[in-house]
Amino acid sequence: KVKAKIAPSMLSSDFANLASEAEKMLQFGADWLHMDIMDGHFVPNLTIGPTVIQSLRQRSRAYLDCHLMVTNPMDYVKPLSKAGASGFTFHVEVSQENWQDLIQKIKETGMRPGVALKPGTPIEQVFPLVEAEVPVEMVLVMTVEPGFGGQEFMPEMMDKVRVLRKKYPSLDIEVDGGLGPKTIDVAASAGANCIVAGSSIFKALKPQEVISLLRKSVEE
Ligand code: DX5
Ligand code: ZN
Repeated sequence: KVKAKIAPSMLSSDFANLASEAEKMLQFGADWLHMDIMDGHFVPNLTIGPTVIQSLRQRSRAYLDCHLMVTNPMDYVKPLSKAGASGFTFHVEVSQENWQDLIQKIKETGMRPGVALKPGTPIEQVFPLVEAEVPVEMVLVMTVEPGFGGQEFMPEMMDKVRVLRKKYPSLDIEVDGGLGPKTIDVAASAGANCIVAGSSIFKALKPQEVISLLRKSVEE
């Protein structure tokens, strides 16, 4: 079975205290820190970019799982790798003539390439990227419309996860949006192993317990 990765979405953290929020999540048992990078164009919200990733990297050795909700992911490959990003997950909905070129550039800089898809995008669109000569190493199935934390999980998206898990038994499959104690079981049994959770962790009285519960559901 593929290993569980629990990735708190730092979008729900207090950005004015990012380093200590990050440290806290790691102490609570998080595997990755999920960093939502938005450009105000691909999605109607604006968050952080390479500068903030670099500041965080100076304070933490954590795996920074960057989710790029941007129209031109290629423009961010160099800046983000210099900043110290670990994973680079771009959206399949952006217009990109040469996926192989993008994936290759991400890999060359030492980051781990991933592809994300919005709820309305058919799963078939990511197959060529998973099967490419230089493939993406993770598929992120969005379970809300990208742009904001705190939205409701869309269980219909689990069909995509099941299809992926059946086709690619050892692929990292990440789910993002509305994950928490109430929704983890459907996601885990569909085959997701990388779990992003923002509000359910940060708003919890005991975030540590939420993180270990999420892990248990995936690993059982
Ligand atoms: C939404 C982001 C998510 C978001 C998840 O565009 O990609 O990572 O922060 O937040 P929750 O877990 O609150 O839905
Ligand atoms: Zn995200």
